[in-house]
Amino acid sequence: MTETQGFTIWFTGLSGAGKSTIADLVIPELERRGRVVEPLDGDVVRTHLSKGLGFSKEDRDTNILRIAFVADLLTRNGVATICCPISPYKETRDAARAQIGEFVEVHVDATVAEIAEHRDPKGLYKKALAGEIEHFTGVSDPYEEPVNPELRLDTAGRDPEESAGAVLARLEELQLLPDEVRA
Ligand SMILES: Nc1ncnc2c1ncn2[C@@H]1O[C@H](COP(=O)(O)OP(=O)(O)OP(=O)(O)O)[C@@H](O)[C@H]1O
Ligand SMILES: [Mg+2]
Repeated sequence: MTETQGFTIWFTGLSGAGKSTIADLVIPELERRGRVVEPLDGDVVRTHLSKGLGFSKEDRDTNILRIAFVADLLTRNGVATICCPISPYKETRDAARAQIGEFVEVHVDATVAEIAEHRDPKGLYKKALAGEIEHFTGVSDPYEEPVNPELRLDTAGRDPEESAGAVLARLEELQLLPDEVRA
């Protein structure tokens, strides 16, 4: 049996940037192409693996390192692992990169203004911008942009379907996914 190459797609970006939305479009396409996929999304992780952790730098880092630990195990076993934590600190993302063999960092890029004005499904930016939420990434907490990610998605310029297509194309380029045989 030929071994399937595992990899981790690590979506990073502000809350509301579209990490989960884009991941939810990428996942069925990977499955359609025969991959075993395991999502480790921020929201789900925080209710299980990282239950009880808050949003201080220390707790955020612990959350990321736990996700990276599990992602590494899955990736080593041929799984297409999809992580969607905000992961605001460069050094901690780099630690995840160092731990995980095949690491595809995708910066889901959107400005605070764009999200606050046009998205903000949970109304959190409104509160954060009014000073009502401490440690809110992009407003009252830092977000360190990736310097050299495998892919940067400008979400203001393209819809989630286009972004998902760009992720799949990048995986093909990186030879982590066979090119689709197009008729
Ligand atoms: N061009 C776009 N790309 C991605 N999402 C968009 C775009 N335009 C609007 N949206 C909307 O923005 C929202 C993004 O929310 P989503 O939950 O995917 O963000 P997230 O990055 O996973 O945030 P969190 O870190 O809070 O989990 C969705 O409601 C989505 O429909
Ligand atoms: Mg999300």
